[in-house]
Amino acid sequence: MRDWNRDVNRLADELIAAGKLHSPAWIKAFTQVPRHVFVPHFWLQDPDGWRQVDASTDEGWEAIYSNKGLFTALDDNKLGISSSSMPGLMTRMLEILDVQAGHRVLEVGTGTGYNAALLSAYLGDSNVYSVDIEFVEAAANRLASLGMQPTLDTRDGREGFAEAAPFDRIMATCAVSTIPAEWISQLAPGGMILADLKVNRGAGNLVLLHRTGPESAEGRFVPGWAEFMSMRTENTTAPTARSGRDDDKLHHTTTRITGQPWGHTVPWFMASFELPAGVQVGLRIREGYTWWTITTPDGSRAEVCETGTGNQRDVIQSGPCRLWEPIENAFAEWENAGSPDWPRFGLTVESGAHTVCLDDPTGTHSWKRAIS
Ligand SMILES: C[S@@+](CC[C@H](N)C(=O)[O-])C[C@H]1O[C@@H](n2cnc3c(N)ncnc32)[C@H](O)[C@@H]1O
Repeated sequence: MRDWNRDVNRLADELIAAGKLHSPAWIKAFTQVPRHVFVPHFWLQDPDGWRQVDASTDEGWEAIYSNKGLFTALDDNKLGISSSSMPGLMTRMLEILDVQAGHRVLEVGTGTGYNAALLSAYLGDSNVYSVDIEFVEAAANRLASLGMQPTLDTRDGREGFAEAAPFDRIMATCAVSTIPAEWISQLAPGGMILADLKVNRGAGNLVLLHRTGPESAEGRFVPGWAEFMSMRTENTTAPTARSGRDDDKLHHTTTRITGQPWGHTVPWFMASFELPAGVQVGLRIREGYTWWTITTPDGSRAEVCETGTGNQRDVIQSGPCRLWEPIENAFAEWENAGSPDWPRFGLTVESGAHTVCLDDPTGTHSWKRAIS
């Protein structure tokens, strides 16, 4: 017989030691929730492909009671469409969101129901609301087996949950390319949103926003970096139309930027405010060299060689837009500003626009993006 109490307490100790869990009230809630109930099995990718791992096995149990994100559903193309996020990411987000006793909280992205259980253990289930585009029934059954009945609903989470509003807190466990106006309008005065804003592939981070009015919110990006799976209604993973490359029309240049451009998360985010929507990134091996590829649906393409001569790497561009220039400019601007990290960036959300600023909204570094 496995002892989940012992194992959840050990995991809590690990998260405390790692600085991902602090408050006694959250430690208490965390140690009340058996994660294996929410993850009866999960998917693991081996060199041979995906295999399902059961919670009852040693391998499954060890993974569930460790700080690992676990894929719990795959689509027909074997892409992950739901997961139980890393417990340490959940506790970090719940503490950042400053959830207080008596708050009404909406979670967007119910998934397994695990995070709804943490919230229910902390707040009481009558204060917890959670929506997902799928998977809600299974999550409700798992929660009910522990005597928890938060209000769950199947819907597109961009709509929020108007019937149950207002909320003191909204947290999203899937990434959005814009902060939906509905979430802001469904916040109570003093309310906050914590969400993973990704304006393009990998371009963004968790941002904590305070309601400043019925249609406006502002706040800052949080330290560290996190990435959730994208909202499925959003077109962020649509395949790129790959135009044939016309070798006579290639534009050759060089760069000092090393590694995957999107691996430098802050300047990649800055660049993404200037890049067209629908950016896809990938790699391609040509004549023994690795090239990082950046493409957009209009057939524009930039390829950067992983290896170079001295500190210069080759860049080849093709298609209607020069994708590399905004990236090079953003990296230079970021370096000139002293390579600032995420917390120095702020976000203002108003109807019709998202504006990102470095340090001060009235300062010289700000980027505005119209939203529909
Ligand atoms: C990382 S999982 C959430 C993990 C979950 N909080 C838990 O504790 O297990 C992301 C979830 O977002 C959901 N999702 C994707 N698009 C959505 C949408 N448009 N509206 C609501 N949920 C969505 C997925 O179905 C998936 O279950």
